[in-house]
Amino acid sequence: MIQRKFGKTNVTVPVIGQGTWTYGENKSLALEEVKALRFGIENGLTLIDTAEEYAKGGAEQIVAEAIKDCRGDIFLTTKVSAKNCSYKGVIEALERSLERLKTTYIDLYLQHWPSKDHQVEETMRAMTHLVEKGLIKYIGVSNFTPELMDEAQGVLGEHILACNQVGYHLNDRRVENDVIPYCQERGITVMAYSPFGYAPQFFGGVGFPEPGTKELQVLDEIGGRYGATPYQVALNWILRYEDVTTIPKAKDIEHIKSNLKSLELTLSEEDLKLIDSYFPKTNEGMSFVSY
Ligand SMILES: NC(=O)c1ccc[n+]([C@@H]2O[C@H](COP(=O)([O-])OP(=O)(O)OC[C@H]3O[C@@H](n4cnc5c(N)ncnc54)[C@H](OP(=O)(O)O)[C@@H]3O)[C@@H](O)[C@H]2O)c1
Repeated sequence: MIQRKFGKTNVTVPVIGQGTWTYGENKSLALEEVKALRFGIENGLTLIDTAEEYAKGGAEQIVAEAIKDCRGDIFLTTKVSAKNCSYKGVIEALERSLERLKTTYIDLYLQHWPSKDHQVEETMRAMTHLVEKGLIKYIGVSNFTPELMDEAQGVLGEHILACNQVGYHLNDRRVENDVIPYCQERGITVMAYSPFGYAPQFFGGVGFPEPGTKELQVLDEIGGRYGATPYQVALNWILRYEDVTTIPKAKDIEHIKSNLKSLELTLSEEDLKLIDSYFPKTNEGMSFVSY
C-alpha cells in the first residue's frame, strides 16, 4: 500500500483508508461489516475512519471488533460531534469513544464539524489536553474552512494541526480553490471523504455519474486505456495531489478489491484535461456549515 507523510508528523498513513459511515446501523449486517474491514486491513487499508455520530456509536463498536487483535497496526481516526465541542464535552466524548472502540488511545481525533455553540478555542484547548494525557496522538478537524483552520492552529500553538477531512470528488471540486492550497502550504494532510460523491441527504446529493451520462462515458473511456473502471479513475484522480489521502466506504469486498487496484494507474495530462472538461472546477471555495 502506498503511504504518504501524515501532516507535519513523522508518521506515514496509507493513501486509501476505510470509511465506516452507516456501519452499525443494521445489526444483521454486523458480521459482513467486520469482514469487510478485516479484508481491507489484511490488504493494507489500515487507516480506519469512524465517528461517535455514526449509528450513535454503533460504527465504533463494529470497528472495535474488526481491530481487536491488530490495534497496533491500525491508524484509528474518530470524531467528536459539533454539539460535544465544549472543553468538558470533548473529553467526555473521547472517553466514550475509547470505551466503544475498546482501546486506550486514538491516533487521530477530529472535530467533526464547526460548532454553532462552542468556540474553536475551547475545543482545541481540550484537544491539546488529550494529546498531553496520551489519549490521542494527533489533532485534526473536518469541514473547516482556511479561516477556521487558522483559528485552530492559533490556539494549538506548538501542537500540530495534522489534518482536515473534507468532501472531495469529481462533482465537488471546491476544496481545490481554498482548502487544498492552504493545507499544501502548511503541511496539513487533506483527507477526502465521499470520494464517489455525496449521499442524497448531503450537499444536494451530487453522487457518482449515473449510467447513460456523458460524464460516466468519459470516465469509462479513460479507464479503458488502463483496464480500469470509472470508479478506479475517480479514486486515482483524487490522489493526484501528494498531500491528499482518501477514505472510501466499501462494504462489498469486490469494491474493496477495486479500490485497491485504483492505485495501479497513472492518469496522463491528456486524461486530466478531459476530466476537467467534463467535471469543471468552479470558482467557489468550500462552503461553511456548522452544527
Ligand atoms: N467528516 C465528514 O463530515 C464525513 C462526511 C461523509 C463521510 N465521511 C467519511 O468518509 C467515508 C466515505 O464517504 P461516503 O461513505 O460518504 O461515500 P463514498 O465512500 O464516496 O461512497 C460509498 C459508496 O460507494 C460504494 N463503493 C465503494 N467502492 C466502490 C467501487 N469500487 N465501485 C462501486 N461502488 C463503490 C459503496 O458501496 P458498498 O458499501 O456497497 O461497497 C457505497 O455505496 C464515510 O464512510 C465516512 O467514514 C466523513
